[in-house]
Amino acid sequence: MRVVVVEGDGIGKEVVPVAQKILARCLPDAEFYPLEVGYGRWERTGSAIGDDDFVALKAADAVLFGAVTTPPDPCYRSVIVRIRQELDLYANVRPVFGKDFSITIVRENTEGLYAGVETVEEDRATTLRVLSRKGCTRIARFAAERAKERDAALTIAHKANVLKSDTFFRTICIKEAEALGVRWNEAYIDAICLDILVHPGRYSVIVTTNVFGDILSDVAAYLSGGLGLLPSANIGDGHALFEPVHGSAPDIAGQDRANPIAAIRSAALLLAYLGETELSSAVEDAIGMTLSDGYATPDLGGNCGTSELGAHVEAALCRVLSGPHA
Ligand code: NAI
Ligand code: MG
Repeated sequence: MRVVVVEGDGIGKEVVPVAQKILARCLPDAEFYPLEVGYGRWERTGSAIGDDDFVALKAADAVLFGAVTTPPDPCYRSVIVRIRQELDLYANVRPVFGKDFSITIVRENTEGLYAGVETVEEDRATTLRVLSRKGCTRIARFAAERAKERDAALTIAHKANVLKSDTFFRTICIKEAEALGVRWNEAYIDAICLDILVHPGRYSVIVTTNVFGDILSDVAAYLSGGLGLLPSANIGDGHALFEPVHGSAPDIAGQDRANPIAAIRSAALLLAYLGETELSSAVEDAIGMTLSDGYATPDLGGNCGTSELGAHVEAALCRVLSGPHA
């Protein structure tokens, strides 16, 4: 098992080592390959990521990723966006769960408004929203499969009352859901941004297009206690990268205040992707025990440092693995 590990910039350098330690405990035979990419490397060498790095990323069974700083410099291209495109990681999966709900948001990750088809003229600017049949079909199928696994309905979030491209998306999603025998329902994206907060228990698997999913998943972050807790998976055919939803947080970098739970949860998603579902649940259980024992970083009102909290999760994991779960 080859796991490529990218710490990246800022708090990525603090939270990823904690998550890697947990992963190493779960996968004692895994080989970890560190890669340095990101803004820090760009400042040092003039290159944020190279061809060799893409080769290494593609050769990995899975990638554990921290966060990279993207400066507002028009000459600099976002490293994470380049990796998603180069590895064709078309499904961005963000689980959000709490006491009475468990929602998986599946966002298309490669096209839509972020397809990069843009022109800026003197008196107008245009961004083209491109949805291809291939792109819609593979994300719809991916989401419908997740819904089928959970024996849940698939919610299609769109704006088909206004956008022709969303009528196209909706039709394909319905076809894929019905082909798999999955129940489906639908919601307008603006309405669901409110309703997910009021009635989170109504939703299981939600599929949507790129920008709508970007916004909806940040809205849904409110349900689970903030950015320090939220993991994500970027999945393609044969490649997968797991990263916290948060960025490099320069405001707290280097202060031993970063919450490592989003990164540890990303490692748990990586375990599930590799088929280690019991180990993945054990890591989630260990996080739950640690938080209910009252250990937390400052963003959650506690006073633990980053690796200190990681050590509590690791100790809880040892208890879980030696207990009835083992
Ligand atoms: P951010 O997520 O880095 O920070 C937003 C706020 O949340 C900050 O106040 C930060 O201190 C706090 N926060 C984030 N993660 C936390 C954690 N684990 N524990 C405690 N507090 C946490 O977003 P921001 O400030 O918009 O972006 C900073 C940099 O990160 C930018 O250069 C941006 O481009 C980059 N970024 C990279 C991402 C990636 O690598 N996938 C995703 C989002 C942003
Ligand atoms: Mg976002």
